[in-house]
Amino acid sequence: MRITMIGAGYVGLTTAAIFASLGNDVTLLDYNKDKIEKLKQGEVPIFEEGLGELLEVARPNLTFISSWGSFNSKTELIIITVGTPMKENGDVDLTSVEKVAKSIGQKWSNGSQPIVIIKSTVPVGTTYRVKEWIEEELKKREINQEIYVASNPEFLREGLAVYDSLYPDRIVIGTDSSHVQDLLKRLYSPILNQTFSLSLKLPIQRPDHQPKPVWFVTEIKSAELIKYAANAFLAMKISFINEIARLAEKVGADITEVAEGIGLDQRIGTSYLKAGIGWGGGCFPKDTSAILNQGKEKGIEMSLVKATIDVNQKQKEWVISKLKEALGNLKNKEIGILGLSFKPNTDDIRGAISIEIIEKLLELGAAIKVYDPIAMDNFRKTYPKWKIKYIKKIEEIFEHSHAIILVTEWKQFKTLPYGELAKKMEDKIIIDGRNLLDIAPLIEAGFQYFGIGRNYS
Ligand code: UDX
Repeated sequence: MRITMIGAGYVGLTTAAIFASLGNDVTLLDYNKDKIEKLKQGEVPIFEEGLGELLEVARPNLTFISSWGSFNSKTELIIITVGTPMKENGDVDLTSVEKVAKSIGQKWSNGSQPIVIIKSTVPVGTTYRVKEWIEEELKKREINQEIYVASNPEFLREGLAVYDSLYPDRIVIGTDSSHVQDLLKRLYSPILNQTFSLSLKLPIQRPDHQPKPVWFVTEIKSAELIKYAANAFLAMKISFINEIARLAEKVGADITEVAEGIGLDQRIGTSYLKAGIGWGGGCFPKDTSAILNQGKEKGIEMSLVKATIDVNQKQKEWVISKLKEALGNLKNKEIGILGLSFKPNTDDIRGAISIEIIEKLLELGAAIKVYDPIAMDNFRKTYPKWKIKYIKKIEEIFEHSHAIILVTEWKQFKTLPYGELAKKMEDKIIIDGRNLLDIAPLIEAGFQYFGIGRNYS
């Protein structure tokens, strides 16, 4: 199948590599010339395990272009995977989607009839809007043709993008056309039937009993809403356990046991019940705000979504209040931050909890040192004016520090020689924002330990 994809972000790049390695002829267009140049030269612009290998397999079938000049209008499928960032008011910025839709209308060659698939996360109704944008442009060129559009949201997690794309739980297709459905079924058939053979080193292994993905066809608007509802639900699960963690702390229960105990009920399930200082990333913060605003627009007060966001905000405030409780005034106190990325195994700092915590601590006059295995460059580029020390040798983060905050649960933080490191500290305070560490050795080393809803007294 001939496919043109527009937008080489996490989703676009991974999906293009998957479809190309399954034998399709894929062209990936991105306006970012730098990124396209790097891709042409074999570089992988994002940190994603397995993607480099996959791109190598895909390369013979994959073309990278940076302008519509090279657009092949004989393409059978156009897949839109451009970013839909959050505006200041929490709405979704559809500028890129609109621009792409209009370009498709301007470049479409008369006679061909590609199908346009929206994979970007877009507010309900946008897929129809894309169809209108394209048709408006076609009309200007006196081309009178009906356009096929479909919504095909993705559910991949960063760090597991390749794994999730190859072994999804479900493939959701929002369409009102059986022609589109047939074509997409053909495209997805190797994944649906798990008949591909790609030997890649992926971060996790597929369990033997994993069922085949469910092919789930819906109305276009339902597919669009499924994406938001899924992310809001997952964020709600985390906020729920975080709220219970607050109670656990006060009553002397242990949240890891409570989470497991409720998760063993199959109606609840154990995943997304890890208590911590909050969820972040490029999706949950933006998608929860977006669904809240979509509700507001329609006169629906989405109080559970609102509470989900509020609890997440409180988790960050909890960190600051614990520090104040332990240290009093934070002015000139040296605080070490372990981890900047929004979760481990990625250098992505979008929506990372570290950002607000550091911002608040700087406001309070604290001296900040940070360490992250791979996200420091990204952080420095994004916040060039922030006066923080980037530490290359992890031990130095402990030197003369009054407190350490573990923000991201990078595996290597679990096994640091805390006993030795404690000796270098001014005050031995540690806030384990992800409940990663073993408490007993820390207490033994003289640390004052604060976890999230753990029984450490
Ligand atoms: C998420 C969704 O999982 C994915 O389906 C969607 O397509 C995009 O958004 P991602 O942003 O990569 O994926 O992150 P995810 O691994 O889901 O974690 C999101 C945040 O929740 C992270 O900050 C993580 O630390 C936090 N989290 C996750 C918890 O605090 N506790 C948990 O139990 C799980």
